[in-house]
Amino acid sequence: MERLVGKRAIVTGAGSGIGRAIAIRLSQEGARVALADLDEEAAGGVASEIAQAGGETLVKKTDVTRAGEMEALVGAVLDEWGGLDVMVNNAGVGVAGTAPTTGEEGYDFVMDVAVRGTFLGMKYAIPAIRDAGGGSVVNMSSVAALVGIPDRAVYSAAKGAVLAITRAAAIDHVEEGVRVNCIAPGTVDTPWIGRITSGYDDPEEARANMQARQPHGRFVSPEEIAAMAAYLASDESASVIGACMVVDGGVTAR
Ligand SMILES: NC(=O)c1ccc[n+]([C@@H]2O[C@H](COP(=O)([O-])OP(=O)(O)OC[C@H]3O[C@@H](n4cnc5c(N)ncnc54)[C@H](O)[C@@H]3O)[C@@H](O)[C@H]2O)c1
Repeated sequence: MERLVGKRAIVTGAGSGIGRAIAIRLSQEGARVALADLDEEAAGGVASEIAQAGGETLVKKTDVTRAGEMEALVGAVLDEWGGLDVMVNNAGVGVAGTAPTTGEEGYDFVMDVAVRGTFLGMKYAIPAIRDAGGGSVVNMSSVAALVGIPDRAVYSAAKGAVLAITRAAAIDHVEEGVRVNCIAPGTVDTPWIGRITSGYDDPEEARANMQARQPHGRFVSPEEIAAMAAYLASDESASVIGACMVVDGGVTAR
């Protein structure tokens, strides 16, 4: 499919997992993709993969929690490609814990990357997308915004905020031709999962248990989230506005 020919996109957290898969998919569908990540080397690796397949990228080391860096990221795309059509606010971090067991540092860390990062991404990208004649913003929420997940109190709050700001922004900008939506992934097989399971006595058993609790018996793949992101980025989803697209193997259907 080549639904994104001529589109210029930014993906944050593009150096790993879901962001990497989204960047690759958007490129495969014809977009030029700016890869933004705290980890410049990882983003550079993804850029090489995309270049080998003939795609065009731009790598920009960016901390999504810093306004100046987010403004510079959007500015770099405007300088390089003359406009912006798609913004994917994907960067996120997690912390395990209940409200009593989570420290304030963990709270600040998770809320900052998810909520401030998504806010800043929209703050600088939406005017640019509007100036380009309209386009799409895709924010990364989680099923943790929709159902209670044990031991993820602050993470759930952060993803709930991403969902709420998605809906608010969708209404604010619908008349400008800027569509804002979010994706709520279930448990996706990325390096993130390895970081969680490594904290258990038997990481392999923890991994098997995580898969078993998925109704379809396996992890969601990053490519399945990327397929949804590509749909939301494309004009095929023109009537999808302020939506939360669940890709979770059935977790929230229980
Ligand atoms: N993996 C899952 O099961 C799952 C489920 C639901 C939602 N999500 C969400 O999907 C998104 C991506 O998760 P993933 O599993 O691919 O994680 P990951 O850890 O594999 O990748 C996250 C990337 O974001 C980057 N990053 C972190 N903080 C950043 C910052 N301040 N500025 C710029 N980049 C930063 C990291 O360097 C990394 O490359 C996150 O928002 C996460 O909350 C993941």
